[in-house]
Amino acid sequence: MKKITIAIDGFSSCGKSTMAKDLAKKIGYIYIDSGAMYRAVTLYCIQNGLFDGENLNLAELEKAIHSIKVNFRLNEETLLPEVYLNDKNVEKEIRTMEVAAKVSQVSAIGFVRKEMVYLQQQMGAEKGIVMDGRDIGTVVFPKAELKIFVTADPLVRAQRRLDELRTKNDTKTTFDEVLENIRQRDYIDQNRDESPLKQADDALVLDNSELTKEQQMQWLLDKFNFLT
Ligand code: C5P
Repeated sequence: MKKITIAIDGFSSCGKSTMAKDLAKKIGYIYIDSGAMYRAVTLYCIQNGLFDGENLNLAELEKAIHSIKVNFRLNEETLLPEVYLNDKNVEKEIRTMEVAAKVSQVSAIGFVRKEMVYLQQQMGAEKGIVMDGRDIGTVVFPKAELKIFVTADPLVRAQRRLDELRTKNDTKTTFDEVLENIRQRDYIDQNRDESPLKQADDALVLDNSELTKEQQMQWLLDKFNFLT
């Protein structure tokens, strides 16, 4: 069967990753979470003292960027790729609110994007990949055969993110904090100069505010089957 490239872009906490993961599993494709890569670089900045309060030391980050190793390895049990920062599994550390609060600042930097986009294009060179993010259909794989732009009501997204944090034993973060983080990230992601989040002209829009996981999967499979 012909292999294609699937680009899934959209707002924060729309369930893109879960959707992309489930789809990749179902059709036997590789799944790559591009947001995890920006989160890993952000974690590097935090761990190496590159943040002084809100201020990020750009000169230091630029010096370090080529030596920051970000890659994925398959978890033998779940069979899902997990992100590694300089050979350490950081899948859990990158999902904290501290990283979420700083990641849009890091991902807005041109030289960080250039490095990550290069890595992402290498990972997708053979097709047969589902990648989710903000600029996959517009910048990383502009020729992707299937492009989906996912959106959902911010209140629905905040509740979903909060539920996820609670399952990870975060009992402190409030609904309002999550909503504020989502609104801030939406704003920064859409208004940055470097590859702002926007719908590719040839992307199909999927508003999943009212869809069940099953309905969403059927929608995706219909589009996939039509193309392959
Ligand atoms: O998808 P996730 O919410 O984990 O992404 C974290 C952040 O990484 C986003 O808020 C966005 O700032 C950035 N990002 C990006 N481009 C991508 C994927 C994520 O700028 N392709």
